Amino acid sequence: MTSSRLKRVEESATIKVSNIATNLRQQGADVISFSLGEPDFDTPKHICEAAADALYMGETHYTPSAGIPQLREAIAEKLRTENQLDVNASNVLVTPGAKQAIFEIMLTVLDDGDEAILFDPAWVSYDSVIKFAGADTVWVPTDPSDSFKPLDLEEFITDKTRLIVVNTPGNPTGAVYDRSILKNIADIAIDHDILVLSDEIYEKIIYDREHMSLGSMEGMQDRTITVNGFSKAYAMTGWRLGYVAARPDIFNGMLKLQSHSVSSATSFVQYGGLAALQGPQQPVTEMVDRFRARRDILVKGLNDIGLKCKTPGGAFYAFADVSEFGDGDTVSEKLLVDAHVAVTPGSAFGESGRDFIRISYATSQENIKEGLSRIESALS
Ligand SMILES: Cc1ncc(COP(=O)(O)O)c(C=O)c1O
Repeated sequence: MTSSRLKRVEESATIKVSNIATNLRQQGADVISFSLGEPDFDTPKHICEAAADALYMGETHYTPSAGIPQLREAIAEKLRTENQLDVNASNVLVTPGAKQAIFEIMLTVLDDGDEAILFDPAWVSYDSVIKFAGADTVWVPTDPSDSFKPLDLEEFITDKTRLIVVNTPGNPTGAVYDRSILKNIADIAIDHDILVLSDEIYEKIIYDREHMSLGSMEGMQDRTITVNGFSKAYAMTGWRLGYVAARPDIFNGMLKLQSHSVSSATSFVQYGGLAALQGPQQPVTEMVDRFRARRDILVKGLNDIGLKCKTPGGAFYAFADVSEFGDGDTVSEKLLVDAHVAVTPGSAFGESGRDFIRISYATSQENIKEGLSRIESALS
């Protein structure tokens, strides 16, 4: 008795893997998980305190649907100074997580039969939400040897193309797009009058590279919908807090959806977000330094074993080519069953991920070393 709309969408493959790992754990197995999509660090203390203070001060009521004015203002200020986006608070919608923001964007801009472009491989939820919105996903191949940049993008544009989704630094590959790759995408979006969803949730988890916001490029301001949030940068996944900057018609569409569904992000959580933006940024730098050290151990270890993997420039994922040992699904299953190591098969992120596995290094160095040694034994 479920709707036809829902039938277009499949269960998230990443959830499937973590369910198997949970079952194994329940049977007493010591499973090392490389499948997590969230920082393993605690939220910095000053952020928790700000939210707790707000809670005890009685900030427990509905807030405006678009978010509390102070937070919208602080986000707009951040986007202007750090991202060179020409926005003000009236363009900023605070959402319960970036995921909800993406859901609202797709439902706002896509009509039945429209096409939305994803670069293959892409984060699991984009495709599902595009389909949920009644549109079709058009997968564009990417070049694993060069930052997983899209190949021949223009050839995939049709008169139905409405949206291009860009995610840098990216999940699942950790790839970071430089200015020339972004310029190429921007030129095509402008030439064909297409909107771009720029998912910048991993913006701050970046190593020795500069993050660039698509919406800051010439001609892109009005056609870029910028998504960001607090989950990854500030280790706040469970808080559910994200945001969008969009031009007025798109902003208003999203606001309509938000006010009729979740109403707003949680009141006191928004005060935590304010503290995250306005407080010390040192905890972010420290987390990134720790991610970098883990990345270096993991990437070297994987390549030594024969799982080919470029050094990712951002996020906390390594995307390794396992074709020497089988396809990604087979290898993932073998690692889970034989070595009790949980990774995510690359096929979860699109056809081109078939020969890959995604390994999240949001886990301790000890786990990474132990995991590598188990992987080596299982595959040798
Ligand atoms: C690329 C990407 N975008 C968005 C999200 C969702 O983030 P949030 O926790 O803010 O909903 C994730 C979470 O895994 C992600 O990987």
